[in-house]
Amino acid sequence: MPVSAEKPLPPANAPPARLTGLAALRLGFDFAREPLIATRRAHERFGPFVMLDEALPLVRVKRTVMLGVPLVLAAGAAFHAELLSDTDTWRGVSLLPGGPRGSAARRIGSGLTRLTGDAHAHYRKLVLQPLRRGHVEGLAARMARLAEAEVASWPLGEAIDLWDYVRRVMRKLALDLLFGGEDEQSRAIADLVSALMERKWGAGASALPLNLPFTSYGRIVRDAAALERRMLAWVAEKRGRPDARDLAAIIVNSAGTDGRPPDDAAIVGQLASLFAASSEASQSALTWTLLLLIAHPRIAADLQEEIGQKLGAGAPALERAAELPYLDAVVKESMRLLPPVPIQMRVAQRDTTIAGHAVPKDSRVMLNTFLTNRAGELYPEADVFRPERWATIAPSMFEFPVFSAGPHACPGYWFGSLAVKIALAAILTRCRIELPSDARVDYAVQPTFRPRRRLAVILRRADDGKPAAIRVAGTIRHLVRFPH
Ligand code: HEM
Repeated sequence: MPVSAEKPLPPANAPPARLTGLAALRLGFDFAREPLIATRRAHERFGPFVMLDEALPLVRVKRTVMLGVPLVLAAGAAFHAELLSDTDTWRGVSLLPGGPRGSAARRIGSGLTRLTGDAHAHYRKLVLQPLRRGHVEGLAARMARLAEAEVASWPLGEAIDLWDYVRRVMRKLALDLLFGGEDEQSRAIADLVSALMERKWGAGASALPLNLPFTSYGRIVRDAAALERRMLAWVAEKRGRPDARDLAAIIVNSAGTDGRPPDDAAIVGQLASLFAASSEASQSALTWTLLLLIAHPRIAADLQEEIGQKLGAGAPALERAAELPYLDAVVKESMRLLPPVPIQMRVAQRDTTIAGHAVPKDSRVMLNTFLTNRAGELYPEADVFRPERWATIAPSMFEFPVFSAGPHACPGYWFGSLAVKIALAAILTRCRIELPSDARVDYAVQPTFRPRRRLAVILRRADDGKPAAIRVAGTIRHLVRFPH
C-alpha cells in the first residue's frame, strides 16, 4: 500500500461547532458554489468538526436532503480512522443515483460502496481477484502498449479537451484489462454510467424525486432502465465463460450471497458501480497531474529526465513506470493536493457518537480528504505542489486517505496507480501540452474532482519547443499556490 503502518492518532474529542439556521444555510450556499473552499473556510472558522444542525426543514447541501438530521463536516486523520474503521455504523453512499422501489435506477445504485456486512465481504472478495498486486503487475506490458497506442492517436497541433482525451485512455485501460475488452457495447455502457453519475452529482441534479418526462429524476429512471437492458444483454455472452481477469465474467458466473446464481439486480448493482469506479478517479488523477506539471515546468523537466534516464529514450520501457521514485512522488503529491475523491460521504446506520459526541441515526458525514491531506504538521506549505516532500514522509492511510482506508479501502489501488503512471509516462514521452496563457480552470466535485468545463489545451510533439511558465486562472488557484 502507499503508506506506512498506522501511527497513533491525535485525540479528537473536542465538541463539534454547531451551526443552525442562517449560518448553516450560508455554508450550504457557499458549498454549492465552491465546495472545497467552503469547507476550508468552515474549518478555519469553526474547527475540524462542524455540525449543521437542523438547519431549515428542508435544506439541500450538495444534494444531501437534510430533514432534521445533522450534516457533519469532519477533517483530520482521527475522524477518518474512527468512521472508516466502523463500517457497521457508517455506511458509504452509491456513486450512482437511486430511484423508485423496483426500478432499474434503484438496482444500479447498490454496488460495493453501499453494501455492508456479509454481502460486502462476498462481493469484495470476488472483485479483488483481478485487482491484486501480483495480477496487476502482470498486466504492465499490455497496459503500456495500450496507453502508447491510444496516445499515438491524439491529434498534434489542435485544441482538444484534455479531460475528454484523458478519459479515453483511462477508459481503454479499464475496459480492456478489467472488463474483457473494449468494444462498442462496453464503451456505450461506460458512457451511460458516466452520464448517470453526472445526473446524480452534476450542477443540473434535481432535488425533487418526481418521475415525470421532463424532470431530471425522470431522465435518471429512463436512462437507468436503458443501462440495465444494455448491461444484461452484454453480460449474457459472458455467462458460462468464467474468466478471473474480467470483472463482468466474475460477477455473472459467481454465486450470489445466497449461494445461488446471481439475479439481474445483483449483476447490474455490482457492475454499474465497478464501471464508474474503474476509470473516473484515475481520469481525475491523471488530468490534474498533467495540469500541475504544465504549471510547474521545473518539476515537469525533472520528471522527463527521470523517464528518459530510467526507461530509456526513443522507445521507453513504459511497463517499468512503477519503478520510478520521482514519478511515484509526482503522482502522490498531485493526489494529495487535488484528491480524485476529495470528500467521502458516510451515513449513520444508528444513533451513535463521533469523537464521543452523540449524533442521531441517518446523520450524514462529509469526511474531508482534501483538508486532511493539508494537515500542516505533516505537509508544511500544504498548498504547494512539492513532490520532493515524499522522500521524507510516510503518512498512514488515515493521514493520506486518497484511496480511503479500512474495510472499504479502494481495491483498485494497484491498478489505478499503475494505470495513471503508465499513461502519464506515455503522454509525456510523446507530447508537450500547451495551455493558453491565462486559461481559466474552474473545478467541480461530482463526486470526483474534475474541471467544471472543457479544459482546452494544444498538444505539441514532446521535442517541439520548451515548456513556458504558464499562469493558470480560475477557482483552481484557490486550492494550489502556483509559482506564477
Ligand atoms: C487513482 C485511482 C483511484 C482512486 C484515487 C480511487 C479512490 C477510491 C476511494 C477514495 C474509494 C472510497 C470511496 C468511498 O468509500 O466513499 C474507492 C473505492 C472503490 N474503488 Fe477506487 N480509486 C481509484 C481507482 C480504482 C480502480 C482502477 C478501481 C477498479 C475497479 C477501483 C475500484 C473501487 C471500488 C470497487 C471501490 C469500492 C470499495 C468498497 O466499498 O469496498 N478504484 N476508490
